[in-house]
Amino acid sequence: MIHRPLNIITLAAIAVAKPLAIRQDAPNNTSNGTMAWSFKEVPSSANLQYVPCFQNFTCANLEVPLDYDKPDVGTINIAFIKYPAAEQPALGDVIMNPGGPGGSGVQYVMKSAAKSLVPIIGTKYNIIGMDPRGVNNSGPNLDCFDGTPAVRDYYDVQYYSVIYRDSKTSLAMHLQDAGAFGDWCSQTLKEDAKYANTPATARDMLQYAEKLAESQGKPCEEAKLDYYGVSYGSTLGTTYAAMFPDRINRMVIDGVVDVEDHYGGSWTQNLLQADEAIEDFFKMCHEAGPACSFFHNDSSPAEIKKRFDALLKDLETNPVPISDPNIVEFPTTITSQDIRGIILTSIYSAIDGFPKIADILSGLEKRNATDALEPLAANGATKGYAPPSQCNWKGDDYSATQPKLLIACTDQHGNYNISTLDKYEQYIDELEGISPYLGDIWAQVITPNCWKLPYKPVPNQEFKGS
Ligand SMILES: *[C@@H]1O[C@H](CO)[C@@H](O)[C@H](O)[C@H]1NC(C)=O
Ligand SMILES: *[C@@H]1O[C@H](CO)[C@@H](O)[C@H](O)[C@H]1NC(C)=O
Ligand SMILES: *[C@@H]1O[C@H](CO)[C@@H](O)[C@H](O)[C@H]1NC(C)=O
Ligand SMILES: *[C@@H]1O[C@H](CO)[C@@H](O)[C@H](O)[C@H]1NC(C)=O
Ligand SMILES: *[C@@H]1O[C@H](CO)[C@@H](O)[C@H](O)[C@H]1NC(C)=O
Ligand SMILES: *[C@@H]1O[C@H](CO)[C@@H](O)[C@H](O)[C@H]1NC(C)=O
Repeated sequence: MIHRPLNIITLAAIAVAKPLAIRQDAPNNTSNGTMAWSFKEVPSSANLQYVPCFQNFTCANLEVPLDYDKPDVGTINIAFIKYPAAEQPALGDVIMNPGGPGGSGVQYVMKSAAKSLVPIIGTKYNIIGMDPRGVNNSGPNLDCFDGTPAVRDYYDVQYYSVIYRDSKTSLAMHLQDAGAFGDWCSQTLKEDAKYANTPATARDMLQYAEKLAESQGKPCEEAKLDYYGVSYGSTLGTTYAAMFPDRINRMVIDGVVDVEDHYGGSWTQNLLQADEAIEDFFKMCHEAGPACSFFHNDSSPAEIKKRFDALLKDLETNPVPISDPNIVEFPTTITSQDIRGIILTSIYSAIDGFPKIADILSGLEKRNATDALEPLAANGATKGYAPPSQCNWKGDDYSATQPKLLIACTDQHGNYNISTLDKYEQYIDELEGISPYLGDIWAQVITPNCWKLPYKPVPNQEFKGS
């Protein structure tokens, strides 16, 4: 998001880039003919062919047409990873999507299958992570900086770094940056990028259901999908349900996105209750009393809100510098926007997030911003810490930032085109009207980044309505 790619898999708009993350490849010497440690080692087939991978899983590269109506346009691989049900034969395969667009279902299942997905899905269904088109291990390529990952990570961070609502200069720069981003990608990506869109991915899920039935000797025309999608995963699930309503066995959509708003391209319906969620912080901090580090014997949640509002307002004109060489690699300054960005992340996960927010706010009241550094770094920001260089880069091969924009912008089909400074300002005003705390931050996530990306879905991959 905003100044930094947020890292929470459930984010509707925002997903998942981790410039500072440590690469998690297995050591090469564990690789042998019987266990794949990368999707490059997984055979590609137009039928479902699972092979053992990543120690506890099986993997498949399903070859699908870019355009199901025109097989001669070409094919891509869609990556699937399976965590088998403890009770076999399984009742079915549940395809999981963690959000985004751009979030990797493969990573979601690798990281969370045993720990948090089995408790939800149970032991009777196989749990399947699917990388949607354009995401991580699935084609087509949507990385506008393919081959230079350190440059990509550096670009991602600086692209989202300094955009201020009250400065026309700042907004004008971002608008042109966004245009340059579109022009750049249209030169570095191939034309096949347009086939990475949500309706096409929904069609791939039907293909999976049919190929699974076929592999079990069942008629494929009757095959039905089992699916669990969170956040943007609800957009994908709803799209599938609209396109193939009689081809669903069981489906769960959670953290539900307004699908008309997604395809309409405005992304204005995501923050409807965001400020209410922040108000909960004031209530819970008041209830917790001294256990909440931001509680100062306040007589009501409204008192806490008053101190919170005063603090944010003060930060607008008095941001907090950090210059201690024992704490940062270079001097930096923490702004109101930085803090509101952390708050946006925290409302996705309030049980973990709110105590940290309390610590950060209570430090800030004493002009101490140290506690904000760690969550900013976790979100990929370069506040006080240098980004890795081309030589010492140890990040992830995949960053969701560009796939997120490419998929969202192709889906929106030019329906909501912010191509002038006036339109950009009106757009931010509208979002600030919906969420005074977070509107300006959300405004930068998707929509203004689309205006020069040239990719439009082919007619059979357009969303035709619910
Ligand atoms: C390949 O790796 C697997 C898992 O690490 C191991 O069980 C197996 O013995 C290895 N096979 C060979 C031929 O080295
Ligand atoms: C496989 O499962 C074992 C036991 O739960 C765990 O320790 C190991 O990290 C897992 N391996 C991978 C690659 O996820
Ligand atoms: C991409 O997939 C690989 C497995 O091929 C996984 O280890 C990695 O975490 C994924 N990356 C992201 C950022 O999702
Ligand atoms: C809250 O009230 C208690 C008891 O009157 C007092 O000891 C404490 O210092 C107060 N705390 C703050 C942060 O004002
Ligand atoms: C600032 O806050 C941090 C983290 O809470 C703390 O460790 C540090 O001592 C504080 N610095 C000062 C100068 O009080
Ligand atoms: C948005 O509008 C501009 C100016 O009219 C136009 O050049 C551009 O192609 C449009 N973008 C999209 C994605 O339709």
